[in-house]
Amino acid sequence: MVKKYGFGKETETDAVSEKIEESSKSELEIEATTDAEGTHFTMELTDETAVYGLGEQMRGINKRGWIYTSRNMDDPSLTESRESLYGSHNFILITTKERNLGIFIDATGRVTYDIGYTKYDELRITVSGGFDLYTIEERTALEVVREFRRIIGKSYVPPKWALGYGQSRWGYKTEADVREIVSGFEKNKLPLSMIYLDIDYMDRYKDFTIDKNRFPDFEGLVRELKAKGIRLIPIIDAAIKVEEGYEVYDEGVKNNRFCKDKEGKEFIVGVWPGDSVLPDVLNKETREWFGEKYKILLDKGIEGFWNDMNEPSLFYSKQNFVKCINEIAEKKGKDLQAEDFNHINYLLSQLANNEEDFKSFYHNADGKTISHDKVHNVYGYLLTRAAAEYFEKYNPNKKYLLFSRSSSIGMHRYGGIWMGDNASWWVHMLSEFKMLPSLNMCGFLYVGADVGGFDGNTTEDLLLRWFALNIFIPLMRNHSVPQSRRQEPYMFGKTEVFRNFLNIRYKLIPYIYEELERCAESNEMLFKPLAFEYPDDERAKETEDQLIFGKEVMLSPVFEQNASGRYVYLPEKMKLIKMKSCEEFTVTELEQGDHYIKIPLDTFAFFVKENGYSKIMNYIQK
Ligand code: GLC
Repeated sequence: MVKKYGFGKETETDAVSEKIEESSKSELEIEATTDAEGTHFTMELTDETAVYGLGEQMRGINKRGWIYTSRNMDDPSLTESRESLYGSHNFILITTKERNLGIFIDATGRVTYDIGYTKYDELRITVSGGFDLYTIEERTALEVVREFRRIIGKSYVPPKWALGYGQSRWGYKTEADVREIVSGFEKNKLPLSMIYLDIDYMDRYKDFTIDKNRFPDFEGLVRELKAKGIRLIPIIDAAIKVEEGYEVYDEGVKNNRFCKDKEGKEFIVGVWPGDSVLPDVLNKETREWFGEKYKILLDKGIEGFWNDMNEPSLFYSKQNFVKCINEIAEKKGKDLQAEDFNHINYLLSQLANNEEDFKSFYHNADGKTISHDKVHNVYGYLLTRAAAEYFEKYNPNKKYLLFSRSSSIGMHRYGGIWMGDNASWWVHMLSEFKMLPSLNMCGFLYVGADVGGFDGNTTEDLLLRWFALNIFIPLMRNHSVPQSRRQEPYMFGKTEVFRNFLNIRYKLIPYIYEELERCAESNEMLFKPLAFEYPDDERAKETEDQLIFGKEVMLSPVFEQNASGRYVYLPEKMKLIKMKSCEEFTVTELEQGDHYIKIPLDTFAFFVKENGYSKIMNYIQK
């Protein structure tokens, strides 16, 4: 049963698409108090209680024992000490044997979930600003999720080709670079469905422009690649370069499309293009205007985009930068004491994504002036929604690929997400895996992390394991920074193994897509924790490095360097399929219980439930 309680929402988010009447607060069974910090909800946690959800976050699938914050943030140090990442996904599920309770906080500002961090046996949620609270109580965890997903509306499903393999790298700068990648894949007989273009395709990082020197015949290239079944997917950033004569900037200034400071002037921030301004997407007309800009690239044959820097990410604000530089300039020629040096370091460290800056600019949310910090968490969602709503107008009969870095619940209807700037670390494979069910609970089905790791140098074994991990993950994109070692799958020795893994992926695409569509249609999770599928099995509850995919598959990837296998817990009798290629595989039946499974580097292994075996085999042998 779903109940809604109003706490004076800042602005409409449309996160919930179902119309639900408000209940009287006297019916709310959770203890609520209010103080200067915000509204607090407190609940007792027994030893047995598990807490799930919160979408994109570090740490476990069961969220107990840490403090999490919803504050969309561009910070590439994805470590265990982080409390928030790029998205805010305010849905949690509190489960015990007796009770399955879902809580959704439909808020636009900061929310904190202290899940047994301050006090081991207490959950304390703090919401700053206004919001709507939803409680959802059902018989099982899966039913709570289904009910929640029903009220937030159908999840985005990309076109089928978007389940193919995508090659990306910040550093493919020219038409020749792109052709070289295509030829690398062709020569090595590796399937490829997408090549991603990072910011270098633009004219000096200006959205919706193309650098004519680097891409003299952009449309020709799009056509040429499409004929080979490869789509070119450009990036779009949130901020617009300040430059008179640049159409997007001029139009935006003329029609008040950008966020303003308290004096009503455009608020200037620094991002890739230097001085930039932020489209005020809290405003419906601005969303329509910004969305329509995608036409420039759609008209050139583009069928998909990745939206970035939309937390929004600020390297600095002009006002703060000037202040900081002036203060540092005062020290010029002086004998710097350690305190002065530390202070300069501190000033510089405070430039990016500063909360004071978020308080210093304003939106016109369809008539109501709101400071950015109060609506910060829906910015990326609304920017992506602007694009998706325009695609619908541009061609209502076509599916476009769209995913974003920043998000909040509501955006799940318009696009997918990638998990941001991870690193070539083994632990980041595991983070990707653990975020899958949490994101699915919040409606995001088309998701994935940068395969191979974005930052740092990958290794061949890490990349192979990462390919194997992503065989069942809808978004499979290899992406990296320019300074890192190249990580295209033909850059190493074991090209044949990469080829085999990709061929297995391509054989399974019809199955994965069918499951994805089914889960979107029926509000189900594509990746389920074992605890949800086997609620009475104590061991299942503690197993977080295995997941159930769809109806019949269980995944148990290898996450450890130099491991040639791993322990797997089988909650029921299953078949183990070990594949070297689509032609060369073995099938073994295993009983419920613990097993050590050998999984060499050249092998992809997964499990199927008894009833799913012939179905899966049909796809593989087609
Ligand atoms: C951000 C994105 C990354 C991209 C880079 C340059 O860091 O997260 O994927 O490559 O910006 O555009």
